[in-house]
Amino acid sequence: MTAIAVLGSTNMDLVAYVARAPGRGETVTGREFRTVPGGKGANQAVAAARAGGEVVMIGAVGTDEYGSALRTHLEHAGVDTDLLRTVAGPSGTAHIVVDDEGANSIVVIPGANGSVTALGPGERAAVSAAGLLLLQLELPLTAVTEAARTARDRGVRTILTPSPVRTLPSALLAAVDLLIPDEHEATALTGCAEPHAAAQILLRQVPAVVITLGRKGCLYAARGAEPVLFPAPEVTAVDTTGAGDTFVGTLAVALGEGRPVPEAVAWASSAAALCVQRQGASTSMPHRSEIDAA
Ligand code: RIB
Repeated sequence: MTAIAVLGSTNMDLVAYVARAPGRGETVTGREFRTVPGGKGANQAVAAARAGGEVVMIGAVGTDEYGSALRTHLEHAGVDTDLLRTVAGPSGTAHIVVDDEGANSIVVIPGANGSVTALGPGERAAVSAAGLLLLQLELPLTAVTEAARTARDRGVRTILTPSPVRTLPSALLAAVDLLIPDEHEATALTGCAEPHAAAQILLRQVPAVVITLGRKGCLYAARGAEPVLFPAPEVTAVDTTGAGDTFVGTLAVALGEGRPVPEAVAWASSAAALCVQRQGASTSMPHRSEIDAA
């Protein structure tokens, strides 16, 4: 089994379920409130572990009660948390509104995640020893870039989810093997709203890209190959939070097992489709048996 290292955020998600999200200056009454373990890094780690991966999580939680709950949640999922730091102060939180169509809007307060500005020796060793490295952009860019460069130097494949989207340093992009933006992030990175065209622009900087397109599926493009559009399973979404993270974590497991890209993408799409039919981020991620059955 290929070991997967995840460098990324852990957040407690504070989720309000409402018929429709409020506009600017508006107050609406919601239906339900839930606290759910989340964070893009932790979500990808949980998704990969539930899909059968051997996963080590690198990041930080705070000394508040969320911090211990987030750590325990990862451990219950089978994720190795030995390198998850505990730093004085609050854990990361994400303030999420989910509407009746399952769409969300999110404000993230980094908390402890913001303290991870560089890797320590143990963290560098874990990245070097992994078969795959998963990165997102909820930790400081200095640490994300250092991890990517460490992985590149050791021949470790790196998958980057450019979320929350921002301008990416060329030193980071140069060390990425597979970039997985959603359609909005792809547009923000390229200025191009058409996925095929956006993919071609991104391929100037990375060797392969998957642009996730929600209910329209995803587009896989690699240098020197014809792009392929994969349809998504048709399902009714109740909460799309964490669907992209489920896709990435599951895809990493399949790629680590040496499965061909079309098979890996189809498997990851099934996992994401299961995720959106349930509430919450990491609580809605499927186990391997469910993905296989789907
Ligand atoms: O990708 C979904 C995640 O984004 C949520 O769990 C939230 O914590 C934010 O980081």
